[in-house]
Amino acid sequence: VNHLLGIKYITEADIQLIFETADHFKEVINRPIKKVPSLRDITIANLFFENSTRTKLSFELAEKRLSADVINFASSSSSVAKGETLIDTVNNILSMKVDMVVMRHPNPGAGIFLSKHVNASIINAGDGAHEHPTQALLDSYSIREKLGDVAGKNVVIVGDILHSRVALSNIFTLQKLGAKVKVCGPKTLIPKYIEKLNVGVETNLRKALEWCDVANMLRVQNERMDISYFPTTREYSQQFGLNKAMLDSLNKEIVVMHPGPINRGVEITSDVADSKQSIILGQVENGVAIRMAVIYLLASKIKHNED
Ligand code: CP
Repeated sequence: VNHLLGIKYITEADIQLIFETADHFKEVINRPIKKVPSLRDITIANLFFENSTRTKLSFELAEKRLSADVINFASSSSSVAKGETLIDTVNNILSMKVDMVVMRHPNPGAGIFLSKHVNASIINAGDGAHEHPTQALLDSYSIREKLGDVAGKNVVIVGDILHSRVALSNIFTLQKLGAKVKVCGPKTLIPKYIEKLNVGVETNLRKALEWCDVANMLRVQNERMDISYFPTTREYSQQFGLNKAMLDSLNKEIVVMHPGPINRGVEITSDVADSKQSIILGQVENGVAIRMAVIYLLASKIKHNED
């Protein structure tokens, strides 16, 4: 069985194949008839044990655009609330003849754990502060679309790296594609693992922006924050928030990204988020094509195994 559990486990060639497949699906979903019959014989369960807007909806849309049968599960309205375990939950769903599971879970490694205990293809839609592979794929795909290539680009990931799954998946993807990566944020929000990843660390936002071609502004995860990480939101936004004055004072046009959801006025001001340098909604648009590509490629392997 094949999975997408993290970018750590795939190669540059895998990423390039996903991008080329996404190019095709991006063209498909811009046609008047946005749907292809490719996965009429595949059933996919979307299991969300944590809140989501973009990832959940774009996976569902991607699956429907591929003509797969789709079931959706939200833990808050399920028997998980009565104490049912993850493995029991998933095995019960799989007994309804499900081929593929898309899962978001608060625990790092939840997808890896599940892949060892159930007989279905697993796609990690975000596991705690570990990985969010399809987000990183759509981020690099969006850089490639905007700048022609990812190789040779300088990309800074700014903000709450400590609580972010987007950061780690982006670092792996960008490095595999030949970009240089720095992280920028308060020292308290830079995790220890960064030292082992050949990633530059910058605590001065202006210096980081002067170095980069692309700035990926991460959400400050207030729900996981306490005062020891950063004294106040105001101080955070003064030191690490991207505003128009800062953007305009650079002697070049950088590309501005954000995975969403945005805390407007904290990590990024509205005039930057909505500026022509921002590709934030383009990232969301590309999320559907990238997820179609990932699902299609994994499903092709499932079908191949059956032949
Ligand atoms: N970027 C992202 O994962 O957004 P959601 O949490 O809304 O899915």
